Amino acid sequence: MAFPKTRLRRLRQSEAMRRLVSGTRLSVDDFVYPLFVCPGSGVKRPIESMTDCFHFSADLIGAEAAQVASLQIPAVLLFGLPESKDPTGSEAWSSDSAVAQAIKQIKQAAPDLVVITDVCLCAYTDHGHCGVIKDGKVDNDATCELLAKMAVAHARGGADIVAPSDMMDGRVGTIREALDSAGFVDVAIMAYSAKYASAFYGPFRDAAESAPAFGDRKAYQMDFGDPRQAMREIALDIEEGADIVMVKPALPYLDIICRARHQFDVPIAAYNVSGEFMCINAAADAGYLDRAGAMLETLLSIKRAGADIIITYYAKTAAQMLRK
Ligand code: PBG
Repeated sequence: MAFPKTRLRRLRQSEAMRRLVSGTRLSVDDFVYPLFVCPGSGVKRPIESMTDCFHFSADLIGAEAAQVASLQIPAVLLFGLPESKDPTGSEAWSSDSAVAQAIKQIKQAAPDLVVITDVCLCAYTDHGHCGVIKDGKVDNDATCELLAKMAVAHARGGADIVAPSDMMDGRVGTIREALDSAGFVDVAIMAYSAKYASAFYGPFRDAAESAPAFGDRKAYQMDFGDPRQAMREIALDIEEGADIVMVKPALPYLDIICRARHQFDVPIAAYNVSGEFMCINAAADAGYLDRAGAMLETLLSIKRAGADIIITYYAKTAAQMLRK
């Protein structure tokens, strides 16, 4: 049945009609809000490269977490900065790292908030790579052991979910085993499974002071021309015990999210990364884009592609808008 019998504009006539037939709805339930924790006390320092993002010391993070919880956002994702960096990133598994202290504060201030911790060495190593270096290369298996120590330290601190973002082979299995033997059978793993070697992490690396001092991350993060490796990475992570898998970044990889949605029956998270966030903010600051409109359209596109969970620096702003 073609035009004039068929007129698709019939269902677009009013706001109520459009709401009635729209297939995808954004909800605050989808959001995870990333937070940056630093050593010290009394610190709430703006992150220059990322609009409205801050470094918080553990003592001030409880108040922020309470605000996040009051907006009904279900989870936060913690990134830590160390007091000092070394070749193995040993502060990452310290029992009183900024992250370990922050988890305790958050659990006190907002007991129902799900606390996810990023598990990766790049912010803790003096060379800025995501693992330990041997003969000029990141040593996969030795790194897995250290990541497992870091994950157990976070679990001991009270994390609900640990999220390895390093892209070493086999790290999910090593972490699962370490958690189980330490008695943390209920701590879940959200694996950064399909993480691409993207240019969109730039603003974050300034925030986490984690840019590699030499070379790049292409020998461990994925090549962006390849969708098949992404599916293999996800399948392997599920086999090794991942409870949630992630595609990262989100916008240049909506096709990967969509494929993963069709192929796997586990929750899929997508990370709307710092560069994607700052593209919109920079364009809005310059007067080229309507910030709120571009934000909501972007977040919805990630949901429509098939993500169940959206990790976004816009979580608080979007939650406020969705409430109205
Ligand atoms: C650490 C890590 C990175 C991000 C999350 N975890 C940076 C990287 O891999 O270089 C990026 C997040 C963002 O850009 O918002 N491995």
